[in-house]
Amino acid sequence: MLHRAGHTARSLLSTVTSAALSTDYPTLHQHSIESSDEFWNQIATERIHWREPYQTISDCNFKAGKVNWFTGGKLNVSENLLDRHLVEHSDKAAILWERDEPGQHEIVTYKALHEMTCRIANVLNSHGVSKGDRVGVYLPMCPTAAAVMLACARIGAIHNVVFAGFSAEALGKRLEQSEAKVAFTADRAIRGGKLIPLKSIMDEAVKMAPSVQKVFVMDRTGAVELTSSKDVSLESEMAGASSECAPVVLDSEDPLFMLYTSGSTGAPKGLVHTQAGYLTYAGYTHQQIFDYKPDDVYACVADVGWITGHSYVVYGPLSNTATTVMFESTPNYPDPGRYWETVERLKINQFYGAPTAVRLLMKSSDSYVTKYDRSSLRTLGTVGEPINPKAWQWYFDVVGEGRCPVVDTWWQTETGGIMIAPRPGLDPNNLTNLKPGAAMRPFYGVDIALMSPDTKTRIEGNDVAGHLCIAQPTPGLARTVYGDHERYIKTYFADYPGYYFSGDGGYRDEDGHIWLTGRVDDVMNVSGHRLGTAEVEGVLVDHVAVAESAVVPRPHEIKGEGIFAYVILKESVDIDHDVLKKEMSDMISTRIGKFAKPEAIVICPNLPKTRSGKIMRRILTKLAAGEKDGFGDVSTCSDPSIVETLMPLVDAVI
Ligand code: WT7
Repeated sequence: MLHRAGHTARSLLSTVTSAALSTDYPTLHQHSIESSDEFWNQIATERIHWREPYQTISDCNFKAGKVNWFTGGKLNVSENLLDRHLVEHSDKAAILWERDEPGQHEIVTYKALHEMTCRIANVLNSHGVSKGDRVGVYLPMCPTAAAVMLACARIGAIHNVVFAGFSAEALGKRLEQSEAKVAFTADRAIRGGKLIPLKSIMDEAVKMAPSVQKVFVMDRTGAVELTSSKDVSLESEMAGASSECAPVVLDSEDPLFMLYTSGSTGAPKGLVHTQAGYLTYAGYTHQQIFDYKPDDVYACVADVGWITGHSYVVYGPLSNTATTVMFESTPNYPDPGRYWETVERLKINQFYGAPTAVRLLMKSSDSYVTKYDRSSLRTLGTVGEPINPKAWQWYFDVVGEGRCPVVDTWWQTETGGIMIAPRPGLDPNNLTNLKPGAAMRPFYGVDIALMSPDTKTRIEGNDVAGHLCIAQPTPGLARTVYGDHERYIKTYFADYPGYYFSGDGGYRDEDGHIWLTGRVDDVMNVSGHRLGTAEVEGVLVDHVAVAESAVVPRPHEIKGEGIFAYVILKESVDIDHDVLKKEMSDMISTRIGKFAKPEAIVICPNLPKTRSGKIMRRILTKLAAGEKDGFGDVSTCSDPSIVETLMPLVDAVI
């Protein structure tokens, strides 16, 4: 279907809002599935400022792992997020930067963000960075990080943001694999009052990534040292650059960014997101699910190093002309009232955070919450991991005073935006049918299929569980794995032909609402950080003393899951076990990051294996959880007595 481009965004945005909000969910959802092209055509036409109209709404085939939206269309994402708003909103706050230093925030208007973005885009241009080049980003949570992302978008360069908690080696690998031409960092980051030496980490990382020609260093804490011929001061370059930069006109399916995430096998993979589909999906979900209204102050406290920070700190909110908060600090600095003091001072209307933080904060006195005025709050959100009903209830009762819906949002780096949430554009004031711990309703255009791993067929009806798949392409899905399209197809489209497989398990209850039941593959979720068991095992077996290892998740009160490692030593090793364990733990910290350190390492003589030699993880996971029986069928185990041997060893460390 063809359409006209070039509508003024504002009037149409309001049309969508009222249409979507006034239509009941089942009807609109059904329409969005049955007439998917028609539905998304309307949304993309109304939301995006097109330089040239698209020829095809969707060109997808899940069987072949092909996902394309709005092909032939031309646009520039940064123009959509910035220039488009300048006429009427140039003095509106685009970003409220909540600095680590308590009680302080800075305001960046749309005009100022546009200027920063243009200057950085010109700096990139002047150093030979252009369309298709990869740009590594290792920055603190600050407006400059957003401006760097938007500057890449402006010139068609592909940003690859790496969370500033990853180690030098993890950063180096990501720069190398993406063949980054340049990289951005800061002298140091500051989080919870602690300084993190980003520049020296970057220096180490760049040694592994010869493709990096320049490192732009931002001044965050007044300690910039340009130590190599590659180093450039970002501020001085920006000062010398023009504050205007014409946006490069890009195709809908040109890459916008890549972002690494872990899987059940192999090294982390760089998921690639493209322009128009991603922008449409991030913006529309942001508006609908959080009940965002013009002039709201919206806060997602995630880091830009994760997909949540991409879609719901930067791209989604700015596409809606929102005022978006960038939160640099931690939930308990200087005390557990930090979030709520920020809510009061910035008059935040929507607050989107992580279950792990909720679990942490509910351990402190409620007075840290109640002493601040939270009357501005309208919607509370969570993301990244399951939220247990107790934490949900505390968030709802204490933080939201029982009047704000809690939207438990399920999605993934791969999906680009929220796929399942309790309130996809429904009456935001209706609090009666929320279910603590359930993500509940597929978003518009999202056709959730629970699949049987045995028969490989779709399980219909209610009160059923299965592997959570998506039956129909949505515009925000990642299009490929950078440099390895085969891996993309194999990981997401091979298990259930014709479906996208998420790696999660799902349950549809009697009322047809979806619950997430956890990963069904070898992926762990530590404080919302996604890590493959194989990734941690890969580090452990590189220790000279280690013959074999198996890593499993173990329930953790705050983190959701902690890492539990079983290790078999090589026969000849005669070194103190505590020394060895410390070395192994340090290796994980160096190779991946501190957040990946195991809760416990058990040195054991053997592991339960099938006769064909496959480690029986099911047993190891139960043992790590402290279970004493219920190991199921151990008859396939080559040496069933190993369970008895391991039990006291596990008990000794938990
Ligand atoms: C995995 C995706 C989504 C952005 C942040 C994490 C788990 C995510 C929920 C939720 C239960 C959840 C899943 C998913 N997950 N949200 N609301 N309830 N589990 O993105 O790093 O790509 O991780 O996080 O297991 O597959 P990610």
